[in-house]
Amino acid sequence: MSASHPYPAGWYRFRYSHELARGRLVAGRFFGKPLVGFRTERGSAHVFDAHCRHLGAHFADGRVVGDELRCGFHGWRYDTEGQCTQIPFTDTIPNDARVKAYPVRERNGTVWFWHDSTGAAPGFEIPDVPEMNSADWKRGPIHREVVRAHIREPRENAVDVAHGPILHGKSFPLTPGTMAEVRGWEEDAERKQLRFELVNSIGPASRAREVVLRFELVGPGHLVMRSDLPIEMLYFVPNTPVDDERIVFTVATWVKRSKLPFVDSALVRLAMFNFLRGLREDYVIFDKKRYLNDPLLSDADGPIARMRRWLSQFDPRPLP
Ligand code: FES
Ligand SMILES: [Fe+2]
Repeated sequence: MSASHPYPAGWYRFRYSHELARGRLVAGRFFGKPLVGFRTERGSAHVFDAHCRHLGAHFADGRVVGDELRCGFHGWRYDTEGQCTQIPFTDTIPNDARVKAYPVRERNGTVWFWHDSTGAAPGFEIPDVPEMNSADWKRGPIHREVVRAHIREPRENAVDVAHGPILHGKSFPLTPGTMAEVRGWEEDAERKQLRFELVNSIGPASRAREVVLRFELVGPGHLVMRSDLPIEMLYFVPNTPVDDERIVFTVATWVKRSKLPFVDSALVRLAMFNFLRGLREDYVIFDKKRYLNDPLLSDADGPIARMRRWLSQFDPRPLP
């Protein structure tokens, strides 16, 4: 990994929705910048640069008052657009009294903010994922950790089929002599979505069977994976860069409600355990690797170059 590639523009997870209660203010550090997120008393979520325009206090030392953010140092108040609306003991507000408010969307149980290092406006939207908004499904365990990796690494890793038997050979029961196949590649150029299937063959050669993991990406920051094994479930993997070197890697699970909730929750925990065991093997590599802009690919590699081309559309371009 190295800082050789810019941050792709897109929607990124700030927090899960349930972590940002009404009137709550939380600090975050993403894209090398201190940020704050808050939810107004009326219920809308917002993400700002963290430092007050006045004398630079961190908003985490302030609080939410009604639908505004009040700095804890001298009490300047900002509306949800980041515009200062009130300064104690004066009626005059300096012209430049505003802070950066990022575009925010709340979808799929998640507070998203739009990041484009050129400052360009959102170029696409996050669609509703049916399972994550259905009463027939419920949220299972969530995992999160900070991992040393460029934001591109985990996306490329999904289609990097040649590393499966070598790196994950012990933790995943791949049929000997096989590696995964990527099938059904489908790009939606307008909505910035990408779908494909990762098909593994598991078990001994005599009784091999296919296991399919269905991927759905929306921009660089939103990824959903659907699986039927061991039960019908969904992995939600919205990664956000912390800085040039690290990302917050989170995995949330959703599972279809059934008549046997205890069995389901045990199976989801087992699926998550296996998933994380595989991821940890990747993390070991990510931790010391460099991100090469010019890798030397061979015929054995999966569609890594194709994934890179898809991701490249989100590289920031200077505004015309
Ligand atoms: S630093 Fe925020 S009001 Fe003074
Ligand atoms: Fe992997």
